[in-house]
Amino acid sequence: MANIGIIGGSGIYEMKGLQKVKDIPLETPFGKPSDNFKIVKIGGQDVVFLPRHHSSHNIPPHMINYRANIWGMKKLGVKTIIATGSVGSISSILTPGDIVLPDQIIDMTKNRPTTFFDEDAVYHVDFTEPYCPALRAFILKSAAECDISVLPRGTYVCTEGPRFETRAEIKLYGQLGSDMVGMTQMPEAILARELELCYATVATVTNYAAGISKEKLTTTEVIDAVRKVSQKLNTLLFQVVSDIGELHGCACKNALKDAKL
Ligand code: HPA
Repeated sequence: MANIGIIGGSGIYEMKGLQKVKDIPLETPFGKPSDNFKIVKIGGQDVVFLPRHHSSHNIPPHMINYRANIWGMKKLGVKTIIATGSVGSISSILTPGDIVLPDQIIDMTKNRPTTFFDEDAVYHVDFTEPYCPALRAFILKSAAECDISVLPRGTYVCTEGPRFETRAEIKLYGQLGSDMVGMTQMPEAILARELELCYATVATVTNYAAGISKEKLTTTEVIDAVRKVSQKLNTLLFQVVSDIGELHGCACKNALKDAKL
């Protein structure tokens, strides 16, 4: 059993330099996860790693089986998930190359199964704080310890994709208070909460969003930008995972208390 899970986003398909202990293929009640779960050793402890888009990056954001991924993590004993992801910058506080810890989400997805609670019982889970505040604080502390600059907050708007946005959409999302745009945080964050897991995301700003950038957006620039910061991301993830103990001061572990109708 492993306590910590890492979900690797675009450009992060493996944990470089780490010994892989085991590959675990899992079938779940929701179908197949994105890939085999990979058990790696960090600082003597087992950590579960899963590349969100598959190690050959052939699953687009709207086709990811988020429920199978999160269910599989829980099944393997994970209590805390640290995810990575790439985002386009909407707000002037974010520049390509920056690393940011989003603290809020606006969900603009359209066609994804968004809950584990479709039948039998009705649950309304509190999602006022979509990311675990204790985990976010811990990641910020680790970043400071290894001298990696991380922007401490920002609102992430999640779009359906797989296309990039229009200029008008980005203008609207900016007016709604979004700082960054990406395609994968929903439903991943709510599914983790529904299974009472602590969840936070370390996002890399890979580009200026549509219309802010004067250039045509390309997938190549997104992947290249993540590659450029991947060494820093790895260092940060190792530091977090090596130091993290049990998290206190969050309500994630009791998310279903008082949520059932
Ligand atoms: N839009 C949506 N998702 C993204 C972007 C973007 O500009 N950049 C990285 N992921």
